[in-house]
Amino acid sequence: MTAPSSIRRIGILTGGGDCPGLNAVIRAVAKTAIYEYGIECYGIRDGFVGLIENRINPLSLMDVSGILTRGGTILGTNNKASPRKYAVGTNARGEPIFEDVTARCLKHIRAHKLDAIIVIGGDGTMSAASVFVEQGVNVIGVPKTIDNDIVGTEITFGFLTAVATATEALDRLHSTADSHHRVMVCEVMGRNAGWIALTSGVASGSDVILLPEIPFDMDHLCAFLDERMHGAGFAIIVVAEGARQDGGEQVVRMIDPTSPDPIRLGGVGNFVATEVQKRTGIDTRTTVLGHVQRGGSPIAADRILATYFGHHAIQVLMAGGRNRMVVRQNNTLSDVELLFAANKQRLVPLDHPLIGAARAMRTSFADGVKISAERPSPSVVV
Ligand code: F6P
Repeated sequence: MTAPSSIRRIGILTGGGDCPGLNAVIRAVAKTAIYEYGIECYGIRDGFVGLIENRINPLSLMDVSGILTRGGTILGTNNKASPRKYAVGTNARGEPIFEDVTARCLKHIRAHKLDAIIVIGGDGTMSAASVFVEQGVNVIGVPKTIDNDIVGTEITFGFLTAVATATEALDRLHSTADSHHRVMVCEVMGRNAGWIALTSGVASGSDVILLPEIPFDMDHLCAFLDERMHGAGFAIIVVAEGARQDGGEQVVRMIDPTSPDPIRLGGVGNFVATEVQKRTGIDTRTTVLGHVQRGGSPIAADRILATYFGHHAIQVLMAGGRNRMVVRQNNTLSDVELLFAANKQRLVPLDHPLIGAARAMRTSFADGVKISAERPSPSVVV
């Protein structure tokens, strides 16, 4: 086991889909390591591709200066490459050929004398990195995703920026929906979790929120919209990309066999809009926010969380931590086993207080829970 005092050099890698705040983590890791402990930092390019192809370069204080507010990742990322299953070409039938290139990565880690690797990524990236752990490499994980669905941490950086972006879009859809007396459907990301849809839906006062966790019923949805059109004259629906009809399937945009995460969701927004228009005759439009939610500068809350996480990763490493993932639990920084979150998803619990608050605002989840625009009569008559 490497004693903390012998940690002289670390590698930093960003893996999976990008997300606002990655650069803030890179900066916090590098500055803490260099200023506080005199550790040399190396940047690994394009996720695991950098380890596989030996694209590993020194990362100086100059390199991380001025990146706190920048979107994306200065190191580049990749959500396809995994050391255990790396696509090296295609066969005669056009199918991908995979190879286990773990040994190649280990050779490069050793050649650069990296005593530990800070891996900033989602559950897939942590699982992929675990192959090095088995070979004695110390990996410290920093959880990342706009989806906020990593088990073990109550929040991930990037999520609140995505929510802010979605909320602004939903606010803008309100005025055009109102002017044209339309139903506007806005599809947001989140994979199988509805955190972005729920939170931006409540923040924007959307009329309907469709979550993967609460299958929706088209009859209930159309009945609610009919009522709403007779009153307000327009409606806003925010739908999570992973939402599905009761008894139905998720809408899949494509399957990418070369990716460790082959199912790409997308299309439920159009499906809902088409059905609503067909069944109710209400003029309906769809907006798919897509990767706009992943791009751009992180909001202040994410810069702060990312700085905490990056700083804490080095603190954990220097306290002797091995193969840990930094997390926030009960508003306090902590760490868990690196693979704590592997193959799991933190979904929105059905008793989440924000669902209750939204229902009290008369927001519909199109699940048949009775919603009436009328005020209930007072329960106590004096
Ligand atoms: O996990 C983050 C995320 O943005 C999901 O919300 C979305 O389903 C997926 O990544 C899209 O990934 P890609 O980069 O392959 O389009």
